[in-house]
Amino acid sequence: MATLNAKSIRTADRSSMFPKILEFPDQLKKGWAIAGASPVSVDFGSIRNIVFSGMGGSAIAGDILKSVLGAGLRVPMAVNRGYDLPAFADSGTLFIASSYSGNTEETLSATEQAVGRGCRVLCVTSGGRIAEIAESKHLDRVLIPAGYPPRSALGFSLGVLLQIFDGFGVSPVSKEAFDRAAAFMARESVKMADLKNKSNAAARLAKKLKGRFPLISAAEGSLESVGFRWKCQFNENSKIHAAVLAVPEMCHNEIVGWKRLAATKPYYGALAAVLLRSPDEHPRVRLRMNVIRGLVEKNRGKAYEAQAKGSTAFERLLYLVHLGDVVSLYLAVLNGADPTEIDNINFLKKKLGQ
Ligand code: F6R
Repeated sequence: MATLNAKSIRTADRSSMFPKILEFPDQLKKGWAIAGASPVSVDFGSIRNIVFSGMGGSAIAGDILKSVLGAGLRVPMAVNRGYDLPAFADSGTLFIASSYSGNTEETLSATEQAVGRGCRVLCVTSGGRIAEIAESKHLDRVLIPAGYPPRSALGFSLGVLLQIFDGFGVSPVSKEAFDRAAAFMARESVKMADLKNKSNAAARLAKKLKGRFPLISAAEGSLESVGFRWKCQFNENSKIHAAVLAVPEMCHNEIVGWKRLAATKPYYGALAAVLLRSPDEHPRVRLRMNVIRGLVEKNRGKAYEAQAKGSTAFERLLYLVHLGDVVSLYLAVLNGADPTEIDNINFLKKKLGQ
């Protein structure tokens, strides 16, 4: 079995994804500062709904923002991963175009529609066509640093969005709480990178998941977005399939599948339940998670837990986001895969461009 150490990371991580992942706490702070220096003209009081458009590593910032804003957000927010705007989008809509490259065709299409419908448009990008549209149409825009694979720039966009929503007065995360969380994450990130520490949670989980198909269970609303981030990072960094399941919904269907675990192994391979756990769980979700774990084990399946750390719900969410990123990196190394390479995505984008 491949080992996990500085040498094996250097060998697999040819384009240096690991240092970019470890920048996460620093990116958060930079993102907040960048947004603070980029005036946004939106009057949030006149906003009736929010549409956040993006794909992949740029869409996930919207999901996570929605989890952070939680029940305190009194207008509906939709995360749109497609070409077309929902029918309700109009001049009372805050439309956020999130594309790291600024050239993603689905996001460009939705942005053009948003401009046409008179939405209040805010662009978060590092450049490309979206930045050009923002410039020519005098739209609000926040430019984040270029040169990163989009999924490794999540800290920038999240920092930007949290600063803006703090300015709107609708975020539970104040500047002080944000700074404390960024400092907490800087300390935790160092621990996750320390492979000499035998109790390194990221390394231990990556080793357990080697050769397995992760079925990630996460609490609906508060952590499903984080579960989706784990799924996408397993796909893009570790080069494996993965799925995310929301609790409680999965308790009404998915859990039945564990019954035929041995019979399904030849075509699914080795499944592993990965439960994202947090003290913020609804008490009934906590109970459900415990029962799910028991059910998986009763059917001789593997169930692993990723336990959130931190002194606030926001810190715990960030902790789990970062933990998943580091686990996906370690799993890439164990799989002998270059975490940065996404040839299949590039191939598909090229085909569509022809
Ligand atoms: C690549 C990645 C992708 C992109 C997606 C959209 O690192 O994470 O999922 O984020 O293809 O591209 P952008 O973010 O440039 O709009």
